[in-house]
Amino acid sequence: MISKLENGAVWYDTNGNIIHAHGGHMLFKDGFYYWYGENRTKDNYVSCYRSKDLMNWEFRNNILTTDSKTEAIRIRTDLRLLNELGGKVNLERPKVLYNELTQKYVLWVHYENGIDYSCAACAIATSDSPDGDFVYHGSFNPYGYMSRDCTLYKDEDGTAYFISASRDNADLHVYKLTEDYMNVESLVHKLWQGEYREAPALVKKGQVYYMISSFCTGWEPNQCKYAFANSIDGRWSLLKNIGDETTYCTQPAFILPIEGDEQITYIYVSDRWDGENYHNSRYVFLPIDFNKDGSISINYCHEFEININDGKFIAKDK
Ligand code: DGJ
Repeated sequence: MISKLENGAVWYDTNGNIIHAHGGHMLFKDGFYYWYGENRTKDNYVSCYRSKDLMNWEFRNNILTTDSKTEAIRIRTDLRLLNELGGKVNLERPKVLYNELTQKYVLWVHYENGIDYSCAACAIATSDSPDGDFVYHGSFNPYGYMSRDCTLYKDEDGTAYFISASRDNADLHVYKLTEDYMNVESLVHKLWQGEYREAPALVKKGQVYYMISSFCTGWEPNQCKYAFANSIDGRWSLLKNIGDETTYCTQPAFILPIEGDEQITYIYVSDRWDGENYHNSRYVFLPIDFNKDGSISINYCHEFEININDGKFIAKDK
């Protein structure tokens, strides 16, 4: 049993294999945290692990692969999971939500052709179980727009949003999803025009929404910024710095609230990319501090332990 984790080290699953869950997301369901993320090894696209304690991760399935079943849906989509050269496409930043209405697990992901970044599309897939073989429903450009780095967010009333970088990453679009999470229903915002935000991660604390995002520098880390709002489609604050000039050599993947008996801790889950060797990319988990003046901050710690019972994130550094 693992009792502490080292940020930026190689993390292994309970079978002793390296965890490949890059640019990922988590879903809490029936006592388990499911961790989804990019896995570019062999024929894989997206892998799923699960854990009861956020420290020990059991590999469950490669939920999307080059061989995944495909099924067209009502919108016109491109169902190809291989490119015209017969190579793999790129599926980046997979996010999964559970839809109460259809009882399906719905995955949204950034889609590129594996040759260049010209598709700038999103793609969706569904499954009846959190770690089953997902059925691929194809890629498309929402309302014809470019759509690159992305996230999903489910609000307390079940309304879900897909947020993605558009116009060659210059603007960040916020789409409200249809009730079944299978399509965009409206474009509710075009945030931070010309600011080139990537890697959006959204969370709500109390009545306030916070979004952390990075600047656009390929695989190189940069200064992350955050903003806040009282409603997703309302006015968002100006962007403010968070972390140091490279955000401790990370880029956001998502924000995970851990609801314990004593407190709710919000964890900034991030990637420490290795641009030279993608497969060697690592993970960094850091707690977010919500300060009295309304600002938020993250500070680096090297080793940590998470207690999901009381909700505490315990930094182990001396
Ligand atoms: C930064 C993005 O956030 C990543 O998901 C990936 O697309 C890289 N750029 C590729 O350079």
